[in-house]
Amino acid sequence: MAVTIKTSEEIILMREAGRLAAEVLEMIGPHVQVGVSTAELDRICHDHIVNVQNAIPAPLNYNGFPKSICTSVNHVICHGIPSETKTLKEGDIINIDITVIKNGFHGDTSKMFLLGDVPSHVDRLVKTTQEALYLAIDMVKPGVRLGDIGHAIQKYAENRHYSVVREYCGHGIGRIFHEEPQVLHYGRPNTGVELQAGMTFTIEPMINAGSRYTRLSKKDGWTVTTKDRRLSAQWEHTLAVLDDGCEVLTKRNEESF
Ligand code: MF3
Ligand code: CO
Ligand code: CO
Repeated sequence: MAVTIKTSEEIILMREAGRLAAEVLEMIGPHVQVGVSTAELDRICHDHIVNVQNAIPAPLNYNGFPKSICTSVNHVICHGIPSETKTLKEGDIINIDITVIKNGFHGDTSKMFLLGDVPSHVDRLVKTTQEALYLAIDMVKPGVRLGDIGHAIQKYAENRHYSVVREYCGHGIGRIFHEEPQVLHYGRPNTGVELQAGMTFTIEPMINAGSRYTRLSKKDGWTVTTKDRRLSAQWEHTLAVLDDGCEVLTKRNEESF
């Protein structure tokens, strides 16, 4: 399957799915507190998506994923499975990744939450990762190539002595959760797919405090952690390429693009 170009009607539906995904992150914020279990966060999001939004939580049963959201705490890079026994404590950082399906279209977004006071080096990792996403978003317009974007993210992270995860990447999105193109968060300028108006894809950099190497849990087949067990951060948005730039389909109210 090649990269799909969405019609303006399809972009309208993507906009609605993106808005709902963003709204779940806004809704869950006040619940992210010391002592709450990640399973409880999953239940609250699931019920909101199903009962309030009349939408579908895309992760549930996706390739066998057992829950409705991903909750990735501290050295977990991505695809953390919500659990009754994983309760948040002071100083933790957590990525909550939400994907909803509405009228057949997907919206995919994630953000980091900090529990209470975190050391300044932790805050710096989280902020740098968000800034890397934002500078990538700023580049998105027709004619730019995905290698240009990956390179910019990599340079930004590595200049600050962090590393970029390579095994997982952003992706085209639409009626299908993960479609072409792959959106790598590293790369070389002037390489890769050239952006065109009507493309919709995610950018979701995963940036590690230590080395870039990852480990996939043999126990659950999903949880991805840093090999060195140092911290990792991730932020994600779903974007639509417009004639003169891009639209952040999963923008939250706290953000101004
Ligand atoms: N939302 C993730 C992404 O950004 C994918 C989660 S797949 C799951 O692409 F199965 F783990 F839910
Ligand atoms: Co994604
Ligand atoms: Co996601």
